[in-house]
Amino acid sequence: MIGYGAMGQSLRASLAKSGDGLTIAAALLPTLSSCDAASRDSVRVFHDIDDLVAWRPSLVVECAGHAAVRDIVPPLLRAGIDVVIVSIGSLSDAGLIDELEAAALAGGSHLIVASGAIGGLDALRAAKRAGLTSVVYLGCKPPAAWQGSAAESLCDLPQITSRTVFFEGNAEEAARRFPKNANVTAAVALAGLGFDQTKVVLAADPAITCNSHNVTATGAFGEFSIALHNNPLPDNPKTSLLAAMSVEASIVRHFAPLAL
Ligand SMILES: NC(=O)c1ccc[n+]([C@@H]2O[C@H](COP(=O)([O-])OP(=O)(O)OC[C@H]3O[C@@H](n4cnc5c(N)ncnc54)[C@H](O)[C@@H]3O)[C@@H](O)[C@H]2O)c1
Repeated sequence: MIGYGAMGQSLRASLAKSGDGLTIAAALLPTLSSCDAASRDSVRVFHDIDDLVAWRPSLVVECAGHAAVRDIVPPLLRAGIDVVIVSIGSLSDAGLIDELEAAALAGGSHLIVASGAIGGLDALRAAKRAGLTSVVYLGCKPPAAWQGSAAESLCDLPQITSRTVFFEGNAEEAARRFPKNANVTAAVALAGLGFDQTKVVLAADPAITCNSHNVTATGAFGEFSIALHNNPLPDNPKTSLLAAMSVEASIVRHFAPLAL
């Protein structure tokens, strides 16, 4: 695993309980970060990519952030190691997508993108084959969840009393202006109409306690709408339990003889 924060620890514990026989055996961590959680869980710690490559992990999962996808994933793919990533917002950088593709081709490896906190991407990908006319993503969170983001300068977060839309634009602009909230918009854009054509609406609502995501797509296939109301991870309210579970599902599917 790259990183061993709230998502990584939740995932390790959940996999250990699952009975699938899969274990998070090691973590690649920044040199100055604490290794306490990894040591507690008997997870071997690496600080150097070359040492991790030499250890030949059967799969690496990224649960660390956009910089880790940019800096660590290409050398792993070039070394022939398959990688699951969850920091999908990093893929709003078209140059990085090209670099990852070249690295995977050179190494004969695969990059697998976990669905993260959103669902319905399989339907979106399938619908795209027949032609999509519109994809709209609406993300709504409690005001506190937007603190520290550009939303603070677009509305008075502590004072709002009802659902308040503070951004309408495309996924490219949303990823640029709200980088810490870009994972879900990027996942929807990549599966569907791309960053320019995917419409994004972001809102804060003091009446809700979980993060909600709505995707509505129309096209030759017909129309679908999907709504998720995600509970947070206990150790990091900014991360959804479902995002961690999506990484677990990707790992299990990767090793299963039947990809059900
Ligand atoms: N796709 C989605 O829907 C979705 C949802 C939530 C979070 N995420 C992504 O998952 C990531 C992890 O979430 P979390 O709750 O575990 O965060 P966290 O802050 O609890 O943990 C992050 C961990 O990554 C490590 N780290 C940071 N930069 C690193 C680097 N360059 N190399 C190696 N390790 C590094 C940190 O030391 C820490 O161990 C988030 O940064 C976010 O990008 C995706």
